[in-house]
Amino acid sequence: MVTSTESMPEGKDTKGPFYVFEVPVRIWHWIHAIAIIVLCTTGYFIAYPLPSMSGEASDHFLMGNFRLIHFSAAMVFAVGLVVRFYWSLVGNEYARELLIVPLWSRDWWKRVWHEVKFYSFFTRKASKNIGHNPLAQLALWAINVLLSLFMVCTGFALYSQGTGAGSWADIMFGWVFVIEPSSQAVRMWHFLGMWMWVFFIITHIYVVVRTDFASRQNGVSGMIDGYRRFKDDGPMEPQ
Ligand code: HEM
Ligand code: HEM
Repeated sequence: MVTSTESMPEGKDTKGPFYVFEVPVRIWHWIHAIAIIVLCTTGYFIAYPLPSMSGEASDHFLMGNFRLIHFSAAMVFAVGLVVRFYWSLVGNEYARELLIVPLWSRDWWKRVWHEVKFYSFFTRKASKNIGHNPLAQLALWAINVLLSLFMVCTGFALYSQGTGAGSWADIMFGWVFVIEPSSQAVRMWHFLGMWMWVFFIITHIYVVVRTDFASRQNGVSGMIDGYRRFKDDGPMEPQ
């Protein structure tokens, strides 16, 4: 099987369809996306709570419910991440692209730059990629792997302040406060992470939709039925 980082050998199928996104990856993708939207929305209201309502505070539990939903979505998010990392080890070669990013390859960086020009400066030279294009691979790794881990570590460290010293959250994530003893600073970093997610979501949706309209391959449908389809049977290189 030819990976997305190689050219297609002479005489091979260059049109597809190719089965790329397996069922566990697709299920994880949509659960991950919903969890993040819930986390960003509830997190925003934890940072900027709604004005107090009239009457007894104990009659309302509005902000408490926001926190409960935030923590529930956080559990789904964290377990989903562990499952997806496991699938990076046992899934197909495209599933492994999320964790294994060839940062050492000059050719790969050249292809990243090509995609930057294609998506940002509207050059009309589109390449064909069976798996993720190199720019997508870089962004997905930086945000959905590194930033996700950062949000889990800072989030569960903040959570440990509620569960208390000696709790599982404290044992597993209390080290965050050794690196940054100020709880307020950890909250601020966690909050800044939310804005990085918002930036990623907007860019990601722009890129996958634009792929459908202005490239040589399909975009959104890939994450629905799992198949990569090309619009022409020309070479994989930019045209
Ligand atoms: C994409 C992932 C996440 C986003 C976008 C997000 C966003 C936020 C935001 C914006 C805040 C408010 C920060 C502030 O007060 O300035 C917050 C608070 C918090 N988050 Fe997250 N979060 C995420 C993941 C997690 C995870 C995985 C956990 C783990 C349990 C978590 C636990 C917490 C806790 C404990 C608080 C503090 C709640 C409080 O003090 O009332 N978050 N989150
Ligand atoms: C809202 C939060 C979202 C997040 C955090 C997110 C995250 C991701 C991640 C991590 C991947 C890589 C999947 C893997 O290989 O494991 C991915 C791929 C993809 N996502 Fe999303 N996604 C979101 C929303 C969406 C939406 C709304 C759409 C459709 C409009 C979409 C369409 C796609 C497609 C088509 C791919 C495959 C891209 C490619 O061909 O390389 N995503 N997304």
